[in-house]
Amino acid sequence: MQRSLIAGNWKMNGSKKILSDLAEQLCSLQCDADVVIFPPNVYIRDAIEVFSGASIAVGAQDVSEYSHGAYTGEISSEMLTDVGCDYCIVGHSERRSLFGEDNLKIADKFYQASEAGLIPILCLGETLNQRKKDETLDVITTQLNAVVKYTGKVFSSDLVIAYEPIWAIGSGKPASTGQIQIVHQYIRCKLREKGLNAKILYGGSVTPENTKELLEDPDIDGLLVGGASLDAKSFVQICKLA
Ligand code: PGA
Repeated sequence: MQRSLIAGNWKMNGSKKILSDLAEQLCSLQCDADVVIFPPNVYIRDAIEVFSGASIAVGAQDVSEYSHGAYTGEISSEMLTDVGCDYCIVGHSERRSLFGEDNLKIADKFYQASEAGLIPILCLGETLNQRKKDETLDVITTQLNAVVKYTGKVFSSDLVIAYEPIWAIGSGKPASTGQIQIVHQYIRCKLREKGLNAKILYGGSVTPENTKELLEDPDIDGLLVGGASLDAKSFVQICKLA
C-alpha cells in the first residue's frame, strides 16, 4: 500500500507563531504518512527552516504559469525549487473562482511546476449547482483533460490530484465516502485509459473527527486540509491518524 499524503493548505492565514506551534508538535511526530505544509509564500523560507530536520515537505499555494521574466508579483516554479519547495498547489477552486484562472492557465502552471521538478497537486471539483444538475463527472473530465492532454505521459510517476467539491470546502460538511469514491474511481479510470497513475486526495472540511473514516477508504490516498491545518493540535491529530 502506498503512503498517504497529508497536505495542509493555510490559504491566506497563519503567522510565525502558528508556524512555530506547528513545528514544535509536528517535528517530533512519528507518522506513517508523507506530510506537506502550504503556508503563504512569505513564510515558505521559515517553514523550510523549521521543518528541515523533520521529514515534512513545504509547498506553495500557487505558482506562475510563466517560467521567468517581466511578470511583476509572480513567483516561478524554479524559484520555489531553488529555495527548497517540493510541492505546489495548482488550480485550487479559490484561484479558479476568485482569480479567474481557467483550465488553460492551470495547465500551464501544472506544466511549469512539473518542468521545474515540483510536484503539483492539481485540484478538481464541482459546485453545488453542478452536482445538483448531475454534471459532476463532466466538470471533472474537463478539468482533468485540460492538464492531461497538455502534459501527456511525462509526469505519470508524480501525478497528484485533489478532489475538492466546492460545496464541501469550509462548509463543515465533507462529502460522504460514497460521493468521494465515485469521483476518485472515475478519475483513476480516466487516467488509467491514458496510461497514467495518480495519488488522489480528498479535500473539503476535513477534521480530526472525520479523518479515520476518510482514510479507511481505499479510494482515498490522502487529504488536503484547509482550516484544520492552522490549528497545530488538530493537524497533528490528523497526521497521527494517517
Ligand atoms: P477546508 O479547505 O478544509 O477548510 O474545507 C480545504 C481546501 O480548500 O483545500
